[in-house]
Amino acid sequence: MPVPSGYRIRPFEPGDVPALQAITVETFAPVSIDKAIDDEFPGALPGSWADRKTQAIADDCRIEPTGVLVVVDAEGAVAGYVTSRTNPATRIGWIANLAVGRSHRRLGLGRALLEACKERLRARGMVIAKIETLEHNEIGRTLYPSLGFREIARQVHYIARLTDEAPQDGEGNDAC
Ligand SMILES: CC(C)(COP(=O)(O)OP(=O)(O)OC[C@H]1O[C@@H](n2cnc3c(N)ncnc32)[C@H](O)[C@@H]1OP(=O)(O)O)[C@@H](O)C(=O)NCCC(=O)NCCS
Repeated sequence: MPVPSGYRIRPFEPGDVPALQAITVETFAPVSIDKAIDDEFPGALPGSWADRKTQAIADDCRIEPTGVLVVVDAEGAVAGYVTSRTNPATRIGWIANLAVGRSHRRLGLGRALLEACKERLRARGMVIAKIETLEHNEIGRTLYPSLGFREIARQVHYIARLTDEAPQDGEGNDAC
């Protein structure tokens, strides 16, 4: 599938991390398990869902930087990204995170990123590509099957609060 006109997909560069994190905070609130935890137990954890999610993106970039693909517009501004990991032992590639900034949505960038990511996983010897989505994420539930992904299982996440201690000063929850 071609990349939409005016955009190009390129490999990740270390300087991309802040832009990827900014898109993450802008886009993930409605589909974040971490945000659901903050909503259930406000103020219980040090830091916010956004802190934890942006750390997860930094981890994706550090653990397998070649698994991160970035889509940029004609000016070179980052419009979206996909992160992934390979496992040569299992040959299952995991597509960990995918996001496209709001002003670049519905142009086909998410689809193009996933196609490029699948191609890279294939080139790295993976046999299966795995991706997860929340049940209420209509976009994911439409997009992934249209790219050949089949639903194989549903998972329910539970949480229990283990202590009533509040976070220390300066570590308050600032979830948006
Ligand atoms: C999911 C996401 C990356 C899609 O990015 P995008 O560039 O807008 O997606 P595309 O333009 O490639 O759209 C691909 C398909 O997704 C579906 N889709 C996209 N936006 C949709 C919407 N608002 N409502 C319903 N379906 C939608 C459609 O099937 C669409 O195909 P079509 O345009 O041919 O109908 C983007 O919405 C996003 O960043 N969401 C927040 C983060 C997220 O949910 N990440 C995935 C976690 S599982």
